[in-house]
Amino acid sequence: MKVPFFRYDWFFQENRRQIMSVNEEIMSSGRYVHGEYTNRLEKKLAELCQRKYAVTTGSCTDALFFALQAAGIKSGDEVILPPFSFVATLDSVLRCGAVPVFVDISQEHYMLDAAKLEEAVTPRTKAIVVVELFGNCHPQHENIREIAQKHGIPIIEDAAQAVGVMDNGISTGKIGDIGCFSFDPTKIVSAYGTGGAALTDSEDEYWTIKQLANHGLRNCIPEISGYNSKISEMEAAIILIQIEKLTQTIDRMTNVAKEYFSQLKGIEGITLPNICCTQPNFHKFVISTSKRDELRNLLMENGVETKIHYPTLLSEQKILSGKKFLKHNLSNAEKASREVLSLPIYPSISEEEISYTCNCIKKFYKCL
Ligand SMILES: Cc1ncc(COP(=O)(O)O)c(C=O)c1O
Repeated sequence: MKVPFFRYDWFFQENRRQIMSVNEEIMSSGRYVHGEYTNRLEKKLAELCQRKYAVTTGSCTDALFFALQAAGIKSGDEVILPPFSFVATLDSVLRCGAVPVFVDISQEHYMLDAAKLEEAVTPRTKAIVVVELFGNCHPQHENIREIAQKHGIPIIEDAAQAVGVMDNGISTGKIGDIGCFSFDPTKIVSAYGTGGAALTDSEDEYWTIKQLANHGLRNCIPEISGYNSKISEMEAAIILIQIEKLTQTIDRMTNVAKEYFSQLKGIEGITLPNICCTQPNFHKFVISTSKRDELRNLLMENGVETKIHYPTLLSEQKILSGKKFLKHNLSNAEKASREVLSLPIYPSISEEEISYTCNCIKKFYKCL
């Protein structure tokens, strides 16, 4: 049997008629950007996250970069971030000319360890980037908020993987002063192309981000130097359709995760994911084991595709060469990068595929 890591076309296959019909409507309307669907999507995102403003952007990487700019980050400022994330988190900091300061993650949830945050704060710290990994909300967001407020530092939330996630009534996208989402094709809500969004309650930040994403324009007049970072009307429409069905999608992801939990529980040598918010979206199902590479090889030999998020820490990335950066003790992140393994997860994965994957894992651990 072959179990792919992800099926990029699952949503299209299940909603082909609706998608083709909206495509037809937009293609024949002649309005391809900044139209009705983009406006509706921005309103919907703000509503979903109980925020005042949302701006769509060409990607989450751009949203993060614009958010840091809107928070006033300048060359030489220190920005705290976790070392365990996709390279885009780091890239957005470097694009501002800021100095990345890496603080370790918690072994339990793989996100920034709030207990280690304050010792990294200096008078030069001008932002904290909180990354919400694998479809979770950061479980220590209140502690991080307290530290940030005490030192007057804004939080930029990298919620690229966490659209639709809630924790006790608070939505991701509202955890940071500015929250950023990704709609790239691997995400739970995905454009057929790339896309992102930044959300805020501040009118000033809203206008800065909006202008940065659209040539610096405000009322058609270029006031600042900006970029060209937008989504098309077709992408906005498809994202809207996916948001309308997000509850069902998350329910299906939750059922897949439940099946993995039930079939893999009790295997000695494997740590299962820690559910650390009231409504995760299970963007990834990440197990950890000291025999990660052997297990991965066995799964590959048996047709099960897995991935490693993330094999190289941000603090070790080539893009840092020649740049100033600071790193604290990163032992938890180092261990995670050696041990994590992401199993296939998507709404259309079958029960048979899940059981097959779990049985391969059980055979590896000699418990079948
Ligand atoms: C944690 C994290 N941050 C940022 C990004 C960048 O998102 P995008 O591809 O939309 O620029 C991603 C997506 O891959 C991500 O997983």
